[in-house]
Amino acid sequence: MQIINLGPRELQLLESDITKTAVDVIVNAANSHLGGGGGVDGAIHRAGGPEIMHELDTIRQRIGRCPAGSAVVTGAGKLPAQFVFHAVGPIYRDGQSGEAAQLSSCYRTCLDMAADRRLASISFPSISTGAYRFPFEEATRIALETVSQWLTLHNGTVHTVKLVQFDASDHRVYCNLAYKMQFSMASKASS
Ligand code: APR
Repeated sequence: MQIINLGPRELQLLESDITKTAVDVIVNAANSHLGGGGGVDGAIHRAGGPEIMHELDTIRQRIGRCPAGSAVVTGAGKLPAQFVFHAVGPIYRDGQSGEAAQLSSCYRTCLDMAADRRLASISFPSISTGAYRFPFEEATRIALETVSQWLTLHNGTVHTVKLVQFDASDHRVYCNLAYKMQFSMASKASS
């Protein structure tokens, strides 16, 4: 794990299965129907159990679709967290259709939601980089920029943000880009 220290706050770059991260909030990479799917969405529903989908059924009846760039909250079922924030990333088309702004909004919205609930820790998958085909390096830059800026600007309760990569090569992309962006980093054994 690589740690980026931003004042008293910590941004962690971590190779892991997000369903195993013990935090206040696990963020899901959901779709606008909130109906579940494969990838990280499937893993979260499998590990968390059916009550997460029951809550989403109720939310869906109330709001219909959840637009790209926004998120809804449920409990976390059997996951090692209090909440799941179901963020809807953009489907990548041509890079000229507002995808970057929507992806950045996913991260900011979830951080705002965590701050509103006075929570301390949150873990994010690499939203939109699987089935939604956002180019990985560009999505990584957006995640690192958005989260680091947010942590620098906000003084609230959120002090640990984990950006979780599912495999070693994705983890290397995050670490290399963070290095190029001149974040000062320290290695730590994963916990
Ligand atoms: N832990 C951490 N990361 C994971 C995990 C996991 N258990 N499983 C997959 N990933 C990574 C993938 O490697 C990818 O980099 O999550 C990233 C996002 O991939 P997707 O899950 O495909 O999410 P996304 O691209 O946002 O597509 C969303 O896929 O599953 C459906 O319902 C979902 O329709 C929605 C779409």
